Amino acid sequence: MVITHAPAKVIIIGEHFVVHGQPALAAAVSLYSRTTVDAGITGTIKISSPNLGVTDMFPAKQSDDTDLSTSARSLLEPLRRVVMAVLKRAARTDEGLVVEITSSIPVGVGLGSSAATAVSTAFAVARFLDLRIDRSEICELASVQEQIVHKKPSGIDSTTATRGGVILFKVGDSPVSLPQRNQFNIIVGNTGKERSTGDLVSAVTRRVEVGDKDLARISKAAGMLTCEAVRAYEKGDFHRLGKLMDANHELLVKIGVSNPQLDNLVKVAKSAGALGAKLTGAGGGGCMIALSRPEDSKKIAEAIANAGAKPYLVGIDWSGVRELSQ
Ligand code: MEV
Repeated sequence: MVITHAPAKVIIIGEHFVVHGQPALAAAVSLYSRTTVDAGITGTIKISSPNLGVTDMFPAKQSDDTDLSTSARSLLEPLRRVVMAVLKRAARTDEGLVVEITSSIPVGVGLGSSAATAVSTAFAVARFLDLRIDRSEICELASVQEQIVHKKPSGIDSTTATRGGVILFKVGDSPVSLPQRNQFNIIVGNTGKERSTGDLVSAVTRRVEVGDKDLARISKAAGMLTCEAVRAYEKGDFHRLGKLMDANHELLVKIGVSNPQLDNLVKVAKSAGALGAKLTGAGGGGCMIALSRPEDSKKIAEAIANAGAKPYLVGIDWSGVRELSQ
């Protein structure tokens, strides 16, 4: 049996604009999706997710054209494709596997739950088959799922879940892992409002495609904020980083992906002492993040809870996807 886990992510600066070629800064955080893989009946793949309350069994050789007539089937299809991609890569499509996913990452709220699940599953299956591949290939195999779930992902979620730490990401460039810094905390505020990242990304993409000049200008400004944020982070200047996050939230408001609840949580977190706060992920609901000095974190989490959201005081995960001892 093999057990692995992969972390959730938050985007510190640059969501949406990253899909259109700008750099973004993301961090892996200490909420996890965990995958267990064990031997099953030859030629079959059984996948279950107790969190989602679904279990199903598939032939290991099944093509992509599958029967999605039940909700269990359609919920598990993206994951089945990840398992198939790894089996194919290992030339072991006659294998029998039992795959179980459990997760502490809230689903559909911008914390990269689907990417973390795909990454931990790709890694668990690869380890079970003794397939020696590097992290970038794990990330590539896992992104089969992201392409179904998010339609046109930048790849930042899977990259962050795979590598862990704080990552500077730009489509087409090799991701850069920034040095470890410990003088800050991140508090996540979850509105609990699920939404579709794919739909939100498509709405912004349509504006890019029709040559919206405002959007192009805002996108460029966001890219510059990311570059400045990297410098502030490397210098350990978290006051400056907070200000840049505030500025990024304003740009996300301008492109229409925030909402009154997120704006209010940002305001509340700042009044409670956050160095900076913004929505994180695709917006439209989902989560916001606050950057804080360690001594202010509790007060900020309380303020977020009093404003009606669920706070998570998370640490940075510096390891990325990894195998756990049994
Ligand atoms: C989602 O976590 C971040 C977005 O920028 C989409 C993406 O980069 O794939 C909204």
